[in-house]
Amino acid sequence: MYSQGLIGAKEDVVEDDAFLEAFQRRIDAEEKIEPNDPMPKAYRNTLIRMIGQHAHSEIVGMLPEGNWITRAPSLRRKVALLAKVQDEGGHGLYLYSAAETLGVSREQMTEELLDGTAKYSSIFNYPTPTWADIGTIGWLVDGAAIMNQVPLCRCSYGPYARAMIRVCKEESFHQRQGYELVQSLCTGTSEQKAMAQDSLNRWWWPSLMMFGPSDTESQHSDQSMKWKIKRFTNDELRQKFVDATVPQAEHLGLSIPDENLVWNSEKNNTQGGYDFGEINWKEFWQVVKGHGMMNRDRIAARKKAWDDGAWVREAAAAFADKQRKTADAA
Ligand code: 3HC
Repeated sequence: MYSQGLIGAKEDVVEDDAFLEAFQRRIDAEEKIEPNDPMPKAYRNTLIRMIGQHAHSEIVGMLPEGNWITRAPSLRRKVALLAKVQDEGGHGLYLYSAAETLGVSREQMTEELLDGTAKYSSIFNYPTPTWADIGTIGWLVDGAAIMNQVPLCRCSYGPYARAMIRVCKEESFHQRQGYELVQSLCTGTSEQKAMAQDSLNRWWWPSLMMFGPSDTESQHSDQSMKWKIKRFTNDELRQKFVDATVPQAEHLGLSIPDENLVWNSEKNNTQGGYDFGEINWKEFWQVVKGHGMMNRDRIAARKKAWDDGAWVREAAAAFADKQRKTADAA
């Protein structure tokens, strides 16, 4: 799937059984794999895919929220939203840098985003028609991101795990400011509370889809779990998210748009948990395959930004080249 012209990658190691068994022993011993360590090509490519798509998600994720920066209802809300959108851009940079340690270039990753080879999170293909969506995105989308990203702080690949530690600290602020925004709507006028409920109705199911297909459909999970890239399966993290979020909605006086949601005291080794309705997997795959409401707009925005920024990249490259020549001539 990825262009094989990996720059900076170690020459291919001989992936015989002895090498693969020794590598797995390192993983099982909870050792961190670092960029210069010999690693199976499939391990490298899995990480390039996951980290690259994670980085794309962060950058594309700036678009739905950026749409509200000029229309935030107060300076306080504008400052919080500005800070959050800037954070997401920073997360994208950390993650592109982590992916580059595996020998893939930012240009390659961007090409693969723009030509549709590489994915980004489905959640960012939904529109943000009301101000309540900015709160709901912080509360649910960043809440789901935290659920999915905290375990990645223990990912077997060192640069990814380390990038996640800083990202997760900032995601916690994102989630809190979102929840507080929704709370202010729920304690406001009846129109404001209705706007919050409408937003929850539109974002609840797409937030559950963020965790990926069900475990029976997930094609990468088993191997990613063996390599300790993933520490939990898609369904396990989805369940954790539902169990943590339903009480928050109840506290706000909002209702979850799922008539099959019910507490099951037998679930989770009798710790209890929520049973919930079937996800619309047809919608999920439609969006993943590029047919969501905003897919075309998001890619068009990313392409315009990439094209508009070409002169900056050329100028920086020319300057670096001049510096190199000056240093060589000295
Ligand atoms: N959106 C788009 N594609 C998705 C998806 C989603 N929500 N869930 C799964 N997919 C894709 C996978 O990429 C894979 O396609 P590919 O082979 O072409 O890459 C296919 O569906 C099968 O899914 P799998 O479950 O087998 O794939 P993974 O094992 O990679 O699991 C994942 C998917 C859970 C998203 C995993 O990749 C992951 O944890 N990634 C790292 C975290 C991440 O990317 N989170 C996305 C949100 S980032 C974010 O929220 C930013 C925050 O600031 C708001």
